[in-house]
Amino acid sequence: TIKAFIFDLDGVITDTAEYHFQAWKALGEELGISFGRDFNEQLKGVSREESLERILALGDRDLGLSEEEKAALCAKKNDHYKQLIEGISPKDILPGIEDLLKDVKAAGIPMAIGSASRNAPAIIEKLELNGYFDYIVDAGKVTKGKPDPETFTVAADHFGADYGSCVGVEDAHAGIEALKAAGMFAVGVGSEESLGKADYRVDSTEQLKFDAIVQRFV
Ligand code: G6P
Ligand code: MG
Repeated sequence: TIKAFIFDLDGVITDTAEYHFQAWKALGEELGISFGRDFNEQLKGVSREESLERILALGDRDLGLSEEEKAALCAKKNDHYKQLIEGISPKDILPGIEDLLKDVKAAGIPMAIGSASRNAPAIIEKLELNGYFDYIVDAGKVTKGKPDPETFTVAADHFGADYGSCVGVEDAHAGIEALKAAGMFAVGVGSEESLGKADYRVDSTEQLKFDAIVQRFV
């Protein structure tokens, strides 16, 4: 039986993955490094600092940035991102998500947010979803980000749940890798191309149904 549900936030609960993309894209353009949605798949689920490194690597030229300059770029991206998310509200909860959260709660299964984002608590608050989540992983305390399993094992450990009895819901390639590395049941929301390793995959959040997940969980 399922002992815990651990949800990614950006791109699963709400479409902030799109805002992360817009903010990174704008920063990339300032650096003369442009990219599209294909490359962005490699940024999903990945920490702020690592995302910047991947963009710089894509640029394939040594900009010779110091650690201070990199930190300033990360801060700039985050300021832009915070502007983009300022107006989000419960109407921005993705289709099907609140029904799923209700069903999991009704089944008495604890739920956590396992996101790499240090903005996660503020977003959950704006979406007015605090009542569903028993725990939000503190991204600032996770030492190894996705695809490392740590984000998810921290949540499972909080509940005292063995990893094999946890279900994780993810929209990112790195997130599915992290769940599989943790030995958890990985539910993917998105394309077969980037989420092929998921144990169960749907194309969009409205297709996420509690009964269907329980049925496939083994
Ligand atoms: C999530 C998102 C990433 C983002 C990361 C860090 O994993 O999918 O796109 O880079 O969180 O978020 P933060 O809000 O702390 O910059
Ligand atoms: Mg995500």
